Amino acid sequence: MKPIKGFSKLTKVEKLNYIVENYLDASKHKLEEIKSFWHSNAQAQQILDDFSENTVSNFFFPYGVVPNFKLNETLYCVPMVIEESSVVAACARSANFWLSRGGFKAEIVGTEKVGQVHFSWKGESSKLIKFFNESAKELLLNEVAPLLTNMEQRGGGLNSLELKDCTDREDDYYQLWATFETCDAMGANFINSVLEALGQKFRTLVSDNESFNETEKDLLVIMAILSNYTPNCRVKAMVECPVEDLEDKSLGMSAELFATKMRKAVRIAEIDVNRATTHNKGIFNGIDALILATGNDFRAIEACGHTYAARDGQYRSLTHCEIKDGLFRFWIDIPLALGTVGGLTKLHPMAKLSLDMLNKPSAKELMMIVAACGLAQNFGALRSLVTSGIQKGHMKMHLVNILNQLEASEQEREIVRAKFQDRIVSYKDVREELASLRDLQ
Ligand code: MEV
Repeated sequence: MKPIKGFSKLTKVEKLNYIVENYLDASKHKLEEIKSFWHSNAQAQQILDDFSENTVSNFFFPYGVVPNFKLNETLYCVPMVIEESSVVAACARSANFWLSRGGFKAEIVGTEKVGQVHFSWKGESSKLIKFFNESAKELLLNEVAPLLTNMEQRGGGLNSLELKDCTDREDDYYQLWATFETCDAMGANFINSVLEALGQKFRTLVSDNESFNETEKDLLVIMAILSNYTPNCRVKAMVECPVEDLEDKSLGMSAELFATKMRKAVRIAEIDVNRATTHNKGIFNGIDALILATGNDFRAIEACGHTYAARDGQYRSLTHCEIKDGLFRFWIDIPLALGTVGGLTKLHPMAKLSLDMLNKPSAKELMMIVAACGLAQNFGALRSLVTSGIQKGHMKMHLVNILNQLEASEQEREIVRAKFQDRIVSYKDVREELASLRDLQ
């Protein structure tokens, strides 16, 4: 097959025809199948199409909710977009568990965002630093002042600007290091615009500076971009209760043993990289699902969370647990650079609906809800792991998926569910069970 030229210029239907003809056996059935996922409202579909490029259809994910999620004395109904079985159920179980034990508490540690202009400059670093501090910095701030006006009116802006000498890491390497407050916006566009303006102006200032020789005048901007690592845009969420209040029939063990096993499970994730990765993955099951539901950027949030988890050189758990003076305390400490205005938050109809469902939160409120959701998810996973094991719940959902796939009737479902109550679920076994049932009829 030859590469296609100008694919992006084709209409949506032409693109679809190309794909079906070349990659899907030219099947009319496939064409109709892809089209069946188009939104029935053409205007709504256009909005979705415009988010990205070369769009030919939509990819549906389940949109679930967790009601009764008590955080800082408010009861939320938390929306979650996730395809993995048991995630919403586990979060809902945790929310219910803590509802009668004081609920979740959360607080903001900071909201600072960071951006960098990376550049090369050949010369004596002290000369550049002097130039930056004595004249360039002020001129740079003047240059970007008009770009800051709107954000400043909302209470944000550019908080600090520094020159960092990174020549100990790489020859001739420096950074302009800027910190920002972006209020309810995630702020990527704002930050990147300011950084690009800073980079261009700094290059001009350096090349126009008569005290530099020809080599020194030639500053090379490599790139200007925000950093998704925002350790000072951070939130803490926690739950706590007297150990004896953890008592719950469904645990199948005493509250003391449960608390001890929970603390040990978290400790293992704090010291063992292999466990930490799975442990944090479970946290992001909850976080990503809510981030997606609210139209935020889950890749940025994950990248940042993982970097933070490795901040002392070893990748560790993002949650922590202690038992002290008879109190069980479980908390998460996580950077979350989120927005509740701009980006997809208003454009995506379901993201907007999610934010409405959460009482139109500020970015800070959303940070707290997301952190608590990650904590709830982790509590749910650990609770299963240290009690019944994870497979019990998973198998139930796995069975539902297989029965759906095999188009089982209601009656067949009932019989198969009973048969697999205490059995390991496999696709093969369920298919055979169904086949024998169908043979009998
Ligand atoms: C599965 O998606 C997530 C868990 O593996 C998390 C964990 O092990 O803590 C259950």
